Parts: sequence; C-alpha cells; structure tokens
Amino acid sequence: QEDHFKKVLSHAKEYGYVFQSSEIYDGLSAVYDYAQNGVELKKNIREYWWKAMVQMHENIVGIDAAILMHPTTWKASGHVDAFNDPLIDNKDSKKRYRADVLIEEYCAKIEAKIDKEVEKAAKRFGDAFDKETFLSTNQRVVEYQEKINAILSRMSKSLSNEDLADVKALIEELEIADPLTGSRNWTEVKQFNLMFGTQIGASAENSTQVYLRPETAQGIFVNFLNVQKSGRMKVPFGIAQTGKAFRNEIVARQFIFRMREFEQMEMQFFVKPGTQKEWYEQWKQTRLKWHLSLGMGAENYRFHDHEKLAHYADAAADIEFKFPFGFKELEGIHSRTDFDLKAHEQYSGKKLQYFDPEENKSYVPYVVETSVGLDRLFLAVFSNSLQEEALENGTSRTVLRLPAVLAPYKAAILPLVKKDGLPEIAREIFEDLKWEFNVDYDEKDAVGRRYRRQDANGTPFCITVDHETLQDNSVTIRHRDSMEQKRVPITDVKAIIKAEVDV
Ligand code: GAP
Repeated sequence: QEDHFKKVLSHAKEYGYVFQSSEIYDGLSAVYDYAQNGVELKKNIREYWWKAMVQMHENIVGIDAAILMHPTTWKASGHVDAFNDPLIDNKDSKKRYRADVLIEEYCAKIEAKIDKEVEKAAKRFGDAFDKETFLSTNQRVVEYQEKINAILSRMSKSLSNEDLADVKALIEELEIADPLTGSRNWTEVKQFNLMFGTQIGASAENSTQVYLRPETAQGIFVNFLNVQKSGRMKVPFGIAQTGKAFRNEIVARQFIFRMREFEQMEMQFFVKPGTQKEWYEQWKQTRLKWHLSLGMGAENYRFHDHEKLAHYADAAADIEFKFPFGFKELEGIHSRTDFDLKAHEQYSGKKLQYFDPEENKSYVPYVVETSVGLDRLFLAVFSNSLQEEALENGTSRTVLRLPAVLAPYKAAILPLVKKDGLPEIAREIFEDLKWEFNVDYDEKDAVGRRYRRQDANGTPFCITVDHETLQDNSVTIRHRDSMEQKRVPITDVKAIIKAEVDV
C-alpha cells in the first residue's frame, strides 16, 4: 500500500496532475499546484458535485462568498477561541508535533503488529486458521487491541482544553517516542490556533486583523437571510458553495490529503427546528449515493459516526474512503443545530430569522451541513484509478481508470502515420469534437506507445485514423479499460463518446 502511494505521487507529477508549489525553491510544505491535467480533473469533480447538489435540486442555490470576512465572523463561529490543535514540543530535538497525530501513528504501529501476528498464525495453521477466533483469543493480540481501545476511548477528533492534561499523561504512559529521534523528552501540550491571520490597511495603528477563512461555511451563514429573501426561498432549502479554505496545519503530510490551502465543497441545508435528525439521515444517504455513483467500489466507503461532538453539533458522521494509507475522512455530514445563525445574531445584533408562512411564526432555522474536501476527493479518485495491469502477452500497462465523466481528456485523436493525408483527417475530427469535449491530438511515436500514454493519462477513448479511413470514412475506436477496438463510421464517434461521458 505504501508502494502504491509512492506510485500515486510520482504519477501525479509525471503526467501533469499535481506539482509541489514553488518547487524550484524546494517547495512549500503542504501546499500544492494543480497542473495541466490536474486542473481539468479538479474542475470536472467540482462540476459533478455542483450539478448533483445545485442543478438537480430545485431548493438549493449556490453562492461564491469572499475569502476575507469581517473578523467578528470568526469570534461568532468559535474559530478564534476553539479552532485549535494540541501541540507538543520535543525538548531534545526541538521538533514540534501534533499530539493527536503522534497518538494516531502509535495506534498504526500497534495495528501493524497485530497484522504481523495474524499473518504468522495464518501461515502456521493453514486452512484451519480462523481470523475471528484468533483475534479474540490470542493473548498478545488481545493486549494490543486493548491498548488501542483504551486510546480511542480517550481521544476524539479535536481536543478541547480540558483534554490536554489527559493527552500529556497518555503520551507519557504509552512511552510514545519522537518519530525522528526516539527521544521521550516532551514539554507541555499547548493549543495552537489553525487560522492564518493577516492585516487590512497600510499603517500599523490603522490596520485590522483579518483571517483567511478556515471553512467556506461561514460565508453561507452570514448570507443566509440575503439569499432567502432575494431568492424567495422556503424552508427547507440549501445554499451551496465551493472555494478555497486555509488552515495552518501542523502535521501536514500525506500529499494533498491534508493541505494548508485547500478547496471545500459545502452545502448548508436550512430546516425547521425539530426536523434536523430526519434531514441529517437523509443527507448522509444522499451523499453516500453520490460517492458510489462514481463507481469506485462500495467496499471502499464507510460511515464513521462521531461519539464526541463539536460544540455546534447534535449529530455528526464522516464518510470515510479507503485511501492508500487506510480509511480516512473524505466528507463530513454535520447537524449543526441553530448554533451558527444564533451566534451571528448575537454578535451582529441583526435578526437572522425565517418567517414560516405555514406555521405563521418566525424562527432561526436548524442546519444540516455536507462538507467535502475537493482535494481529498481528487486524491481518492486518482489513487483508486491508478492501476498496474498484467496483460495476457506477459507485459503490463499502467492505466488510470478515471470515471469517464471526470477524465481531463475524453478522447485522443491519433493519425496512424504522419503522412498520406491521415493527419489532415485526424485534425478535422479533432476540430469537430473540441466543441463538445476536451480532446487531445497526438501524432508523436508509434501508435502502441501513444495508446499506453493515453491509458496512463486516463483518456477513456482513442480514435485512430488509418489508411482504411481514406476509403470508407471509418476509424478505430479503442476503449481504455477493455482495450477493445471497434471499427465505426466517423459520423458515429461523437455519439459514442457522449453516451459514455454524459451523466
Ligand atoms: N464546515 C465544516 C468543516 O469545515 P471539516 O471536517 O473541518 O468541516 C470538511 O472539513 C472537509 O474538508 C473534510 O472532510 C476534508 O475533506 C476537507 N478538509 C479539511 N481540512 C483539510 C485539509 N487541511 N486539507 C485538505 N482537505 C481538508
């Protein structure tokens, strides 16, 4: 799996999907640039989401709020006071770590030990091996499992101030060591705010401290009444938005999984108080179905219901995806109550209420939120699609099986040779198709090499123009996944591609 992750990183660079930001200066940690193919894939994912969430829902509209907001927004939302990560410094190495990540790494190590024991036993017992029985009876494995359970029962996704003493005690008790130096010489656990701050205004006395938004959601909350009134929206209704968010992540590894500058696709659904549980359940299912529609395998998804809830939520779950480094959060679905709107009422002194004509009264709606990271989804799609496939003739090929609807290029047009009028016909097909889809024209190298290149780039179709084309206006259409080739009239090409890439 680690190997696969390495392949994902190098393939993303080699094929123009993702580059390290400012690479010539050795990069900037946890900041990435989307390259010529990556930007297309990212745009297609965003559009696929927007279509499902906004276009297909009569009662959901979109907005595009600014990244900079009035600083009081972040007082009201709780981000100034509570958007913290617990940090711990190592006295010896002077390195700083996020405490919860240290513990997570420690758990992963124990899990690897369990896997080793299972592997050993499976070899020893052969056919008679029963994993369930082994896991519940082997003394060493049971001890390991108890350790993990003890940690998990005391940890949560985000740690409150009260948890800090607990974390310090846990790190000492488990004898967790600095992953780089092995030293166990820690100082206190401290809270560190994740928001990036900057100033508006030129002079020091007149400048105002503002923040780069750490989530897009607040731009929706502060616009709730503007949208409701100008759009004459009736509860229940939703407001959707995609855009950049910024977090000064301390441990920012795992490529585009955890970034300092990333993009979110969020939707806040405003509902009548008391109905939030039903809507929460409904959105959980709707969102899972949306993910499954990409065809990346139901076994790669699971829900993780939160036991410990954030200060604003009365229910919360993650949709987790099986990344190359294991199951991790891909999307969050949160029942946020009326916390945000009430807080903005309080801090702004403005009413943020909805007059319900059926009830004949005003209230602050409750909110169910769906929030997915676009970059994380990109990583899920990209890593899941990248496959090394053994072929019948004993060779292998690298193929990026991107869902056709998301692929950067829908088809590549290839003249078999660079003469005899074939490039001219290929160009004509290219010029015709480009009005409809993003298509590539490729005449360099032998056609077999070009097929491999398009496979590795995720292009679902190759259209080859050869000498037969000169006689009967037919071309070969080759499918990326099956490698099947068919002879079709040029006039059919557009419809064949369309049938596959339209949703
Ligand atoms: N408005 C709710 C909210 O922001 P969150 O769980 O903090 O909730 C939602 O973030 C989603 O945003 C996550 O499920 C993840 O996909 C994405 N996300 C969060 N932090 C990220 C980061 N540092 N890098 C990339 N994606 C991130």
